[in-house]
Formats: sequence, structure tokens, C-alpha cells
Amino acid sequence: MNIVDPAIDTYLKGLAASDDTEVLLEMEALAEERGFPIIGRLCGGLLELLACSIGARRIFEMGSGFGYSAYWFSRAIGPEGEVHLTDPDPANERQALDFLGRAKLEAPIRYHVEDALAALEATEGTFDIVYCDIDKSGYRKAWDAGRARVRVGGFYVCDNMLWSGRVTGPIDDLDTEVIDDTNKAIAADEDWRSVIVPLRDGVVAALRLR
Ligand SMILES: C[S@@+](CC[C@H](N)C(=O)[O-])C[C@H]1O[C@@H](n2cnc3c(N)ncnc32)[C@H](O)[C@@H]1O
Repeated sequence: MNIVDPAIDTYLKGLAASDDTEVLLEMEALAEERGFPIIGRLCGGLLELLACSIGARRIFEMGSGFGYSAYWFSRAIGPEGEVHLTDPDPANERQALDFLGRAKLEAPIRYHVEDALAALEATEGTFDIVYCDIDKSGYRKAWDAGRARVRVGGFYVCDNMLWSGRVTGPIDDLDTEVIDDTNKAIAADEDWRSVIVPLRDGVVAALRLR
């Protein structure tokens, strides 16, 4: 199921072409070549916008791959902030450090080559944004752990919440079941105000109210 009509998608991406940089285009080409699921140009812009809107300085990513989503967060936070990246694959760390270094975005980067939830538990303090893009079966545990680590007034953001439309049913696999359960938990949480933005594969932005 196309969540965004392809003509609208092309139109929106045309407008976003002003964000082109050599490194960004290289990352997008690598994702295309490998079939690697990056968050994409439109949701990337949304990540930057959310971070800018609250003056975010401290960001924790669960599932960073080779640094594409961190590129967008890094554009927002500047040299005083920090972006924590997580991924169990050391090859992803090497590539992310290369891309983000060459992009010269100033934001300090800390890459944890381990499971995101273990890294979150081992990292002190609260965050302006916790962002999740790990294996989908881990989404509910990521929300349960991540929601406690976002400061009041900060965001929990998570990609693939519409899962190519599979959440609309019939639901007959674990990943879809967990995503649907997580969507319902976030929507029902009275301490949070949230919306699933139906861009690309659906990204939830949840604001912590209290
Ligand atoms: C969809 S990709 C991430 C893409 C990245 N956020 C972006 O937009 O460019 C998911 C990544 O999460 C990693 N991953 C999956 N489960 C994880 C976990 N439990 N902890 C940390 N990373 C995980 C995978 O190795 C993969 O590189």
C-alpha cells in the first residue's frame, strides 16, 4: 500500500531538493544500492524540524545504521549538543563516522556498538528526543524504556508506524502486532500528545506533557 500518493511524494521530494549536499546524496545512493531502509528525505526534514522546534541539544537514537537519521538531527543541535547513535554492527559505525565527519555538522557524535536498549540503560540522564528505528519486534520495549528518558517538553519519535499499511489489518505477524500495540499504547498515554505523520511509512511524534 502506498501511504503517500507517488505523485505527491515526487512533488514533496522536489521541494526538499534544496537540502542536497554531497554527503547526503552519497548516503541516499548507498541506501538505494544496498536496499538499506533509511528514514528518507522527507522524514529526515521532519526530524530536524522537531529538534529545532524545542531547541534540542541531547538526542538518543535507537537503530542508527550508517548515520542518515543522525545527519538530520545533527543539523539541528550544533556543537553544544550530543547525538547518541546505536547499532550492533561495527561496519555501520565506521560508515556513520565517515559520513558525519565529512558532513562537518559540528554536533558531537557518540556511537554505541550494541543493543539500543542496553546502551540507553547505560547512558545517564534525560534526552530532548529519543528516536526509535530498531527491529520492529522491539518497538513496544523501546517505547516503554524510551518514554521514561524523554524530558518533559521533549519528543519520542519512531519510524515505520504504519508499516506499509499492514497495521490496518488483518494483522497476522509479530512485527505488525507489536507496532499496532505500540501505536495504541502511545495514543492512549495521557502524559503524551502524539500524532502519526503519514509521510513515507508513518512516523509518530509524541510530545511529553508531564
Ligand atoms: C531501519 S535501519 C536504521 C536507519 C536509520 N535510523 C536511518 O534512518 O538511516 C535499522 C538499524 O537498526 C539496527 N538495529 C536493529 N535492532 C537494533 C537494536 N535492538 N539495537 C540497536 N540497533 C538495532 C539495525 O542493525 C539497522 O542498522
